[in-house]
Amino acid sequence: MKNILDYETVALVDEDDAIEIIDQTLLPGRIEIIRLHTAKEIWDAIYLLQVRGAPAIGVTAGMGLYLLMKHSEAASYEEFMKELDEKSDYLNSSRPTAVNLSWALKRMKVHVEKVYSEMVIRDVNSSASPEADFETVRAELVKEMREEAGRIKAEDIDVCRRIGENGLTLIKDGDGLLTHCNAGQLATCKYGTATAPMYLAHEKGWNIKVYCDETRPLLQGARLTAFELHSAGIDTTLLCDNMSASLMKTGAINAIFVGCDRVAANGDAANKIGTSMVATVAKRYNVPFYVCAPTSTIDINTPTGDQINIEQRKPEEVTEMWYSERMAPEGVKVYNPAFDVTDNELITGIVTEYGVLRAPYDKAIKELFEKKNQK
Ligand code: MRU
Repeated sequence: MKNILDYETVALVDEDDAIEIIDQTLLPGRIEIIRLHTAKEIWDAIYLLQVRGAPAIGVTAGMGLYLLMKHSEAASYEEFMKELDEKSDYLNSSRPTAVNLSWALKRMKVHVEKVYSEMVIRDVNSSASPEADFETVRAELVKEMREEAGRIKAEDIDVCRRIGENGLTLIKDGDGLLTHCNAGQLATCKYGTATAPMYLAHEKGWNIKVYCDETRPLLQGARLTAFELHSAGIDTTLLCDNMSASLMKTGAINAIFVGCDRVAANGDAANKIGTSMVATVAKRYNVPFYVCAPTSTIDINTPTGDQINIEQRKPEEVTEMWYSERMAPEGVKVYNPAFDVTDNELITGIVTEYGVLRAPYDKAIKELFEKKNQK
């Protein structure tokens, strides 16, 4: 029988002009693969968390923009770009916190602009005009968008593997590791970010024990992380979110690895609600706390965590979801932010595909981007 890890989190089905995803709202009870064709279907799938996790959202958005522009009938480059901006803005409005969403959409646009300007230069040299036959130009731009979306996905797999290799240097055989939410394979195209060192340790035959916070209110830790790690044959233990302090106090946890949705330029990191509580307790018990972040999740244009837009979600996720009957009084006010920001001073290291960043993070992040942009 197929294991959950044998399924692709996000895939393009070219012959059906569709994105195929695992509907993560049904896990672990049911593995159902669904196809997204329209802008509304893609928007809903991201908003409803059928596909979720910052990198997977980015890959879906890149593929989505390509598919939507494949149907474009724009008669000029200006029309084409106007349509692209509108579709991009619509997809970008599905969730506010994970920067990978806007990052992937922007990357698709920048690629189209680059390809078009190369066409103009080529045609100036040959004295033809790209506007003369825009249908051919449009087909070329769309083909390029398909390739760029494919590259975003391929790079995600490579980046996660490298995060895993860098994270592996921070742990040893026999370690107990804690994670919060799901920054696993289901949140990326393979390996995950926070789980990548765990999968690589397991590949090496190390005997690690992973503890997964349940992650209220949407239970990504219980439904997704515990499911995928357990399916991989990793020693997995589930706990409620309010149990991690007592576990850390026993000395069972050697290190904590979490993912993130946006890292600000000073190293403050937004991740699933509850993460900053875990980091605060980790400091109390001297447990190293690592944030795993592809550079696509680092937003150098957001100075500190205070400027990160935190998604607020529906009260019903807290009062009713998962219960057979409502578990809170009717009319009670509900506080339900989807993410919180962990202050940089609580973070022991930020594990990227280029290495492990250490405080002061503003300097480390600046240097990382300078080096990356030189390449
Ligand atoms: O609301 P979600 O399930 O999309 O939140 C996911 C997280 O907070 C993850 O930790 C983060 O996106 C990193 S995924 C590699």
